[in-house]
Amino acid sequence: MTERKVQLHRGLREVYIDRTTSSFIDGDEGKLLYRGYNIHELAQNSTFEETAFLVMNGHLPTQAELDAFDTELKNSRALPAEILDIIRLTRNSHPMDVLRTAVSALSAYDPDTEDNSTEATLRKGIRLTAQAPTIVAAHARIRDGKEALDPDPELSHAANFLYMLFGERPTDEDAALIDKDFVLHAEHGINASAFGARVSASTQADLHCAITTGISVLKGPSHGGAAEEVMKMTQEIGEEENAETYVRERLRSGGRIMGFGHRVYKALDPRSVHLQEDAKELGERKGEPKWFQILQSVIEVMEPYRRRGIYQNVDFFSGAIYYLLDIPDDLFISIFAMGRVPGWTAQVVEQFENNILLRPRLLYTGPMDVEYVPIEERG
Ligand code: ACO
Repeated sequence: MTERKVQLHRGLREVYIDRTTSSFIDGDEGKLLYRGYNIHELAQNSTFEETAFLVMNGHLPTQAELDAFDTELKNSRALPAEILDIIRLTRNSHPMDVLRTAVSALSAYDPDTEDNSTEATLRKGIRLTAQAPTIVAAHARIRDGKEALDPDPELSHAANFLYMLFGERPTDEDAALIDKDFVLHAEHGINASAFGARVSASTQADLHCAITTGISVLKGPSHGGAAEEVMKMTQEIGEEENAETYVRERLRSGGRIMGFGHRVYKALDPRSVHLQEDAKELGERKGEPKWFQILQSVIEVMEPYRRRGIYQNVDFFSGAIYYLLDIPDDLFISIFAMGRVPGWTAQVVEQFENNILLRPRLLYTGPMDVEYVPIEERG
């Protein structure tokens, strides 16, 4: 058999599948814009609520728009009792599995589930943005034998998450760190999870289907799972002076250094700059600077990889921040997911507004026209 001559794009590397106005990434410059706004400006000046509005609606809100959006978020935080029951039933699963299951189940309780209009999709996006932290916090408490807490309407999105997780209102400094982390994770183009969400939407499945897919795709260690792996690695290294040997050993044995490398960024991931500063300050504030120092040493050992475009990514410092805030390791990916709901929603709205079924081809390389042999005649 002669193989058909087609051009393969394994991994869809460098393949553009559509146009977007949601975010812009220049991987060679290390530049990221949400709706035209530079991530550095948003990280320094915006809040998650404002950034989520921007990502979902395409413009920065007026004060009145922001107040209305914030009220909608706050009014949508609580979960139906049945979802809390599902969380109890699945409490021994990984937090991402519980989040995925609860988001999927929420479709049974959303008044707009079947409505794929832009307005309804944005309403559902707001609800899922608000509900995701409640799911994650409720699960973390229930599996520890504690009661899930009601959301606190006086607190911001980020502060309320920490409150629902720990049962006490966080300091402004701690809440600001999670708020910025959510801002940095809000949107990132057609990454693997957004692609998954868009494939769902391209069949005209609804937002709950798309976000359930997005959460599923995000779970893997090549994508959102890296932050958890980085913190495991940091703990294994244990002391700054062990970093060089550890990294060299891992690379020598063909392993990868988690939190390094990116399909699009071949320069420094601009999001990592902010998380690096925050991890340093938080480590000093908590009297535990050693984790940051270990991570800095890993960066130094990985310096030669920069020539190949391999730099630390968004996941490299985020794990240390979560760890220093006493957040359990297996919740790290869920925090990424919570921040990304607005981005997935924006991508799904774009897909619906100019829809085309996402359906690529595979080049068949198996046997051809094999004769069917009845089971009793097979050797
Ligand atoms: N450590 C060591 N070497 C690496 C790393 C790394 N973290 N990342 C890539 N490389 C090397 C590969 O070994 C490969 O080398 P080779 O050409 O000699 O075989 C080369 O760089 C290219 O690697 P690919 O896997 O082809 O690059 P790709 O663009 O597909 O990978 C990925 C991107 C999956 C993120 C990769 O860099 C990786 O596995 N990183 C570690 C996991 C991680 O941090 N994921 C989070 C990404 S950010 C996010 O999703 C939010």
